[in-house]
Amino acid sequence: MRTHYCGALTAADIDTLVTLCGWAHRRRDHGGVIFIDLRDREGTVQVVVDPDTPQAFRLAEQVRSEYVLKVEGRVRRRPPGTENPHLPTGEVEVITQRLEVLNPSITPPFLLEDEDPTENVRLTYRYLDLRRPKMQANLRLRYRAAKLMRDYLDAHGFIEVETPMLTRSTPEGARDYLVPSRLHEGMFYALPQSPQLFKQLLMVAGFDRYYQIVKCFRDEDLRADRQPEFTQVDLEMSFVDEEAVMELVEGMIRQVFKAAIDVDLPDPFPRISYHEAMRLYGSDKPDLRVPLKLTELTDVMRDVEFKVFAGPANLPDGRVAGLLVPGGGELTRGEIDAYTEFVKIYGAKGLAWIKVNDRGRGREGLQSPIVKNLHDAALAAILERSGAGSGDLIFFGADRAKIVNDALGALRVKIGHEKGYASKDWRPLWVVDFPMFEWNEEERRWDPLHHPFTSPKPGHEDWLASDPGRALSRAYDMVINGWEVGGGSIRIHREEVQEKVFAALNIGPEEQRAKFGFLLDALKYGAPPHGGLAFGLDRLVALMAGVESIRDVIAFPKTQRAYCLMTGAPSRVEERQLRELHIRLRNPVKE
Ligand code: AMO
Ligand code: AMP
Repeated sequence: MRTHYCGALTAADIDTLVTLCGWAHRRRDHGGVIFIDLRDREGTVQVVVDPDTPQAFRLAEQVRSEYVLKVEGRVRRRPPGTENPHLPTGEVEVITQRLEVLNPSITPPFLLEDEDPTENVRLTYRYLDLRRPKMQANLRLRYRAAKLMRDYLDAHGFIEVETPMLTRSTPEGARDYLVPSRLHEGMFYALPQSPQLFKQLLMVAGFDRYYQIVKCFRDEDLRADRQPEFTQVDLEMSFVDEEAVMELVEGMIRQVFKAAIDVDLPDPFPRISYHEAMRLYGSDKPDLRVPLKLTELTDVMRDVEFKVFAGPANLPDGRVAGLLVPGGGELTRGEIDAYTEFVKIYGAKGLAWIKVNDRGRGREGLQSPIVKNLHDAALAAILERSGAGSGDLIFFGADRAKIVNDALGALRVKIGHEKGYASKDWRPLWVVDFPMFEWNEEERRWDPLHHPFTSPKPGHEDWLASDPGRALSRAYDMVINGWEVGGGSIRIHREEVQEKVFAALNIGPEEQRAKFGFLLDALKYGAPPHGGLAFGLDRLVALMAGVESIRDVIAFPKTQRAYCLMTGAPSRVEERQLRELHIRLRNPVKE
């Protein structure tokens, strides 16, 4: 139907007769001449309709936004002074000879050039939202990144193998999406939270290097960086240690960033232990663009009068820490109050602070509601360890370590970006030396920090039973600018170690057999040492595209309530369908 893409015309096409197809992006009536910006996936070009061509002119008068048009005409140079340097086609225009309306459009709910239709409108009319050049670019970038990763993995001897979507539940820590079985009454498949066990079994099967770009499903609380279905670049390798996996995937990410967005990432990525990350940044996915750091103060607060600090300092899982804000003396009361409200989201009960008006004057030089209840040694340690100088401010968190880390960790990033401390570069890193387990106070049990198939470090197996909190794992997470973009580990390949880990997680022998018998059996048939990793493709592309939410790089995402505004999923189903599935609803949904 067409000879050229609208957005691809350049001065080299001048005098060429072209046929274009596309959407009327904008129409301007300049008394006598009509201008239409005609858009296709490559961009827009200015189409001119002159009254000299009456058929075309009459039609052009009726054209509205988003009409689909076919234009035949000649490319010509724009008259001097009317070029548009912001447009790749800005030197030229097409003077129309024939115009055809292929399809009209009703008035769209928003203008495509509108920067900010609400997200609800965008998601309801996603097919219109996706017409916007920004969204077109995002999805192209996504395709390109995925293609680059495929090429890299292919060149390194990986093959893509598909794994089942209807399967048993894999424990990645989220709730499963279940699919009722018609043929097996009362039984359910689970949609995979990841292909974890299947890729390990492919290693047992001798494939040596596997990858898959694959949908994963997790019924968890959603945020800007989480969707109920998301895409992993999932891979696994045999006969490797963590160095081999990390080197290979680091090389892949460097190559993709270079080829897709022309960014040179550091070589190698720095590494930091989990404990160090928590101590310095209160987070296992630190945003290293923000230079602010936490100061450890638990030990010096045990015997201070200030109960808010002394209480947590004396708890086994308590922490007292400071966050130095250089120049923070200028923060107003209102700002401090707003930050205090902010940390409450993370469970903090308050946000104590000290302004250092004059460091040389010791106690006298400090302004704060709390200094009167802190002894000299505590004040000295605060100033000394944080390195605070005159004009600085220190915030404090005191509570269970998890709350302090979450609260000060988030505050660090917030202040860092709001107050201009953050650098503009790319700061990838590896977080390593994770603990195997993390204590779950509510359920009073150990939970895996990664998944239960992660190998303990050599020499740490004995602690699995005697002191589970002390055992470190062979897991590694890749973090870029504060986003966890990927995670993986060397796996357990020996049955007896796997059984010990299940035991530490309070999964008894019977439950082990019932849920993971196939894995334990496979490990008995000569399973090779193996390990791997999975990237969150949505997160990687969101970072590269510079968008805040992964929804902006997913063609048809769900809302924060896991709802599809366009199709209306999830939805009611027919009673007949439920009956076939042997299901009766407890609280039938009203019409
Ligand atoms: P993990 O659970 O860390 O590891 O997932 C790997 C990566 O997937 C991304 N991710 C998500 N992205 C969007 N929405 C979500 N709900 C979501 N959940 C996770 C993250 C994360 O780093 N089987 C292991 C991998 C392995 O050990 O090889 C796994 O799934 O970027
Ligand atoms: P209060 O003694 O409750 O008036 O608190 C004195 C200061 O300590 C106030 O600035 C509170 O915001 C702060 N504060 C209270 N609880 C905590 C906590 N758990 N961690 C840090 N600061 C706190």
